Amino acid sequence: MEKNVHLIEHPLIQHKLTLMRDKNTTTKEFRELVKEVSALMVYEISRSMKLKDVEIETPIGKTYGKLLRDEIAIIPILRAGIIMAEGIIDLIPTAKVGHIGLYRDPETLKPVEYYCKLPNNISEYKVFLVDPMLATGGSAIKAIEVIKDKGAEDIVFVCLISAPEGLENLSKEYPDIPIYTISIDEKLNSHGYIVPGLGDAGDRLFGTK
Ligand code: PRP
Ligand code: URA
Repeated sequence: MEKNVHLIEHPLIQHKLTLMRDKNTTTKEFRELVKEVSALMVYEISRSMKLKDVEIETPIGKTYGKLLRDEIAIIPILRAGIIMAEGIIDLIPTAKVGHIGLYRDPETLKPVEYYCKLPNNISEYKVFLVDPMLATGGSAIKAIEVIKDKGAEDIVFVCLISAPEGLENLSKEYPDIPIYTISIDEKLNSHGYIVPGLGDAGDRLFGTK
């Protein structure tokens, strides 16, 4: 496994992942699971986040405390990343949210960009770029290229399921960007779907198929 790749194997997460993979899980349940797992992932990832000392006043008197040092920006890759972002916002409500719209051309499997709106001064934020599926890696690579171009510097990529091909391609292109995933699956099929995966994440989240 590439050294920038972090596999999160918390039992609660693995339990919920199995429910997500099940084709009989309904859209409502699937969406809730994606939100819950995304929040749990960020809880794990945020263990290494830096704190800053602050002085505050309780109703009783002055004291010192700690707050997160970095401003957080969550950037979901549309459309499936949106629901991951919702789960993370529940945990970090002060986070700003940017959006990047990409879809994968079904023939070429190459990403096509259609939208990008990021918080101002994105270089000042710690960015969580989120997308449930890392298949060929094309979408993640394109998204990183776009947000770096707009100034983002401190980026981590958070996905649910990854394929070995996607991990290899993304790590080769951006070896310094940490990748967090909850499963490294077997392979891609001839249509670029992750095997066994969970199917089309966008369709399962939004009930479009
Ligand atoms: C899915 C997924 C990723 C991409 C991964 O999105 O959410 O963005 O495919 O594949 P890749 O690693 O091979 O690029 P899709 O293109 O189906 O768009 P959607 O979210 O609009 O359904
Ligand atoms: N996108 C998905 O939604 N699922 C896959 O398995 C691959 C790409």
